[in-house]
Amino acid sequence: MAIQRVKSKWAKTKVLLRAEPLRERIPLTKRWNITDLAHMLDTYAMVYVKPDQGTFGLGVVRVEKRSSDLYTYQSGTLLQSFTSFEQMAASLRKRIGNRAYLIQQGIPLLTYEGLRFDIRVMVQMNPKNEWETTGIIGRVGHPKKIVTNYHSGGVPKSFNKLMGAYLTESQTRSYGAWLAELGTDVAKQLQTEYPRLKEIGIDIAIDQSFQPWILEVNTLPDPFIFRKLEDKKMFRRIYRYCLAYNRRLS
Ligand SMILES: Nc1ncnc2c1ncn2[C@@H]1O[C@H](COP(=O)(O)OP(=O)(O)OP(=O)(O)O)[C@@H](O)[C@H]1O
Ligand SMILES: [Mg+2]
Repeated sequence: MAIQRVKSKWAKTKVLLRAEPLRERIPLTKRWNITDLAHMLDTYAMVYVKPDQGTFGLGVVRVEKRSSDLYTYQSGTLLQSFTSFEQMAASLRKRIGNRAYLIQQGIPLLTYEGLRFDIRVMVQMNPKNEWETTGIIGRVGHPKKIVTNYHSGGVPKSFNKLMGAYLTESQTRSYGAWLAELGTDVAKQLQTEYPRLKEIGIDIAIDQSFQPWILEVNTLPDPFIFRKLEDKKMFRRIYRYCLAYNRRLS
């Protein structure tokens, strides 16, 4: 039977929220509506507004309340400013139209040489039929953009190098082991609802106090981003597992 893919971020988020230990790792997420947008900006000052079924970071908007009379939002490289919530929300509403969108608590990402980065954790069903975390990699965002996706100018970089700016070697190793475990927990939880999953790619934000947050889970993760690493060991295993469960690779 074909490998299961699930497009709706909202559907996947709801499944993860059912698992008590995962709940606290998920930024507050709502379906697009003006009331929650106002509340969440009051609470978090920064939120992400994104398509329920987006890819490549397309259509993702970062919205900020900078003061009571300065609201901004940025999509792509264009930053727009407004003097009231109502003006900003009206403009955003026009941009979104009647497409399905989500609002998510914004996580202030750690930076590397001044640029924001997030983490992609690859989790696969291994040939022994167990969930295994097979890859962890960082993606450094383009200086003028609000997303870190490779297809939007993000640059893949080794997890050790990125975290090495903050943690010792042994701390980085334990942190990686923690993310690896979080990865298999996420896979097992999603499998309760989607039994034919074979692979997932989890986007994880690490905030300034080193808390990991699950931004979203991709069910058609790109294995080739791992080929960008100097050390090809991770990629080789990922690729081998892909072949084992007959993923079509182009
Ligand atoms: N809540 C958030 N806080 C901080 N940054 C975020 C948040 N949500 C998204 N981002 C940034 O925007 C990027 C794109 O968002 P997301 O992964 O949710 O959608 P997508 O990339 O379009 O989907 P896909 O990964 O399938 O291509 C993330 O990798 C991250 O850099
Ligand atoms: Mg993503």
